[in-house]
Amino acid sequence: MAKATPEICIAFYSRSGHSKRLATKLAEELHADEVEITAPKYSGRFLGYMRAGFDSVRQKGALASQAFDTLKKYRHLILVGPVWTSYPAVPLRALMRQGDALPQAVSLFLTSGAHSPPLKAFAAGAADLGRPLIATGVLPNSAEDTAQEDRTIAQFLLELKEQDALISRN
Ligand SMILES: Cc1cc2nc3c(=O)[nH]c(=O)nc-3n(C[C@H](O)[C@H](O)[C@H](O)COP(=O)(O)O)c2cc1C
Repeated sequence: MAKATPEICIAFYSRSGHSKRLATKLAEELHADEVEITAPKYSGRFLGYMRAGFDSVRQKGALASQAFDTLKKYRHLILVGPVWTSYPAVPLRALMRQGDALPQAVSLFLTSGAHSPPLKAFAAGAADLGRPLIATGVLPNSAEDTAQEDRTIAQFLLELKEQDALISRN
């Protein structure tokens, strides 16, 4: 049964729908609130794609004018979004760089085309945030609606719950 006040928030950015789909699944599983990170600069089919790749390679880019001050009230923030040029997508990185304005516990679950290993992306995310990520996961687009997706989500949730329990105890 859903809690009256969710303790977990899922903030997602999705240019083409894969991460939005994953975020919704996680939110249902965890009875979490969902917040969409908007980035109109990257939404055009061709120009948006080019800008996304260009900003990601330069490791630059700012958030659109969107307030995120309500995120701090959650105990745990899960960021969901795509891998771009081996890094978390620029809008996720821009948010992670505001680490002090976010809950202490932050996890990162990425979607990908599976043409680059995710370790570089997780390392960049933790560096942006200024502290270690609690749990990490990556779902290739090709795994959607397969047993691999179920296993990947279950593994992420297990890691999240184990690490959460450790944090609560300290
Ligand atoms: C500009 C750009 C760069 C990308 N770079 C990578 C990459 O380096 N490695 C990878 O596995 N997938 C890469 N992808 C594929 C996306 O990570 C993948 O399709 C993701 O699921 C898209 O999520 P979304 O539909 O939520 O936007 C890239 C996609 C874009 C638009």
